[in-house]
Amino acid sequence: MAQQGGSPEAGDGKMIPYGRHIIDDEDIAEVVRVLRSDWLTTGPAVQEFEKRISEYTGAAHAVAVSSGTAALHAAMHALEIGPGDEVIVPPITFAASANCVVYMGGTPVFADVDPNTLLIDPAEVEKKITPATKAVVAVDYAGQTCDYDKLKDICEKHGATLVGDCCHALGARDEHGRMAGTMADISILSFHPVKHITTGEGGMTLTENPVLAERMRIFRNHGINLDASARSKKCTWVYEMQDLGYNYRITDIQCALGTSQLRKLDGFLKKRRELAALYDNIFAGEQEIEPLRVRDGVEHAYHLYVVRVPARKREKVFEKMRADGVGVNVHYIPVHYHPYYRKTFNTGEELCPAAESAYEKLLTLPLHPAMKPEDIDYICDRLKQSLKDS
Ligand SMILES: Cc1ncc(COP(=O)(O)O)c(C=O)c1O
Repeated sequence: MAQQGGSPEAGDGKMIPYGRHIIDDEDIAEVVRVLRSDWLTTGPAVQEFEKRISEYTGAAHAVAVSSGTAALHAAMHALEIGPGDEVIVPPITFAASANCVVYMGGTPVFADVDPNTLLIDPAEVEKKITPATKAVVAVDYAGQTCDYDKLKDICEKHGATLVGDCCHALGARDEHGRMAGTMADISILSFHPVKHITTGEGGMTLTENPVLAERMRIFRNHGINLDASARSKKCTWVYEMQDLGYNYRITDIQCALGTSQLRKLDGFLKKRRELAALYDNIFAGEQEIEPLRVRDGVEHAYHLYVVRVPARKREKVFEKMRADGVGVNVHYIPVHYHPYYRKTFNTGEELCPAAESAYEKLLTLPLHPAMKPEDIDYICDRLKQSLKDS
């Protein structure tokens, strides 16, 4: 993925990146503390981070893994997705939301998005659902929650499971005040540096279901039932590999960082929301700049601030903004446009018209808690000027 917060560009001081982490001395001290301890991986800092995320979100079970992608894979494994199974996914997302289905031999089926929010459209899910549909992946795109009530009803009616890809939405709440990560059968978080909090790389699965949690816990450790820490406590060398799993473990070093970052999450969210409100105000009267609609009553977590600009101008605007030091981006190329999906699943144009038409206009503007109101003024000024000049 281009222009992530971890790229040199994000930190070279010449460009306002679209997203980036904030690490302070407290974070560094927590990491150093673990480096000096007995457990660098599979130790108490992992359990601590899981407990803290559980408390924050209200999810009963949390399983920390090495990335959001690993979390998605673990979810698909826990749901026993396999050849012949279809899983419905939206096209406006990072490829990992669909790739996890393919890892298991399943078939991703793309359901179009609502053109106003770019969230998966429950009516489109209903159109694509078949007796082979085993799960639906809802993506809380940009940081607002999907309509989980409607999606859950559809899933229940058709015997499918609902997975929430909440990688953009840590700290968001839906219209009933429910926290992102608690509304699907399994929910996924990512702690990549551009996300709300970071562990460098990292991810988590959340669920209310202890059986699914246990499957994912075992999956992250080669399918082995007792990890090193559990064996040490039981004073035994014995373990069994019960299933085929992977090494998707996250280290204690990363989790110490995650727990420290989590203490700052509410402050980060407040800042993101304030900056997003500044963008909203400035764009209110603009003809050529259209922010995404926020669903009524939702508390947005603003991982991304996305606008639509006229399709014919988008490329020029992108280039001009970059030349002016604004790290704009595009989230996302529809997943079904990628060559791999075209050649493997015969996907392409006209599969999801709302997503395809939105894609031509999308522009992600920088948004992260280290930004200042002056940055927003500068970015908006450059955006308006580049639209005029294009
Ligand atoms: C919607 C979505 N799902 C999944 C992922 C994968 O997360 P990770 O990069 O931690 O593997 C990302 C990351 O960019 C994402 O944005």
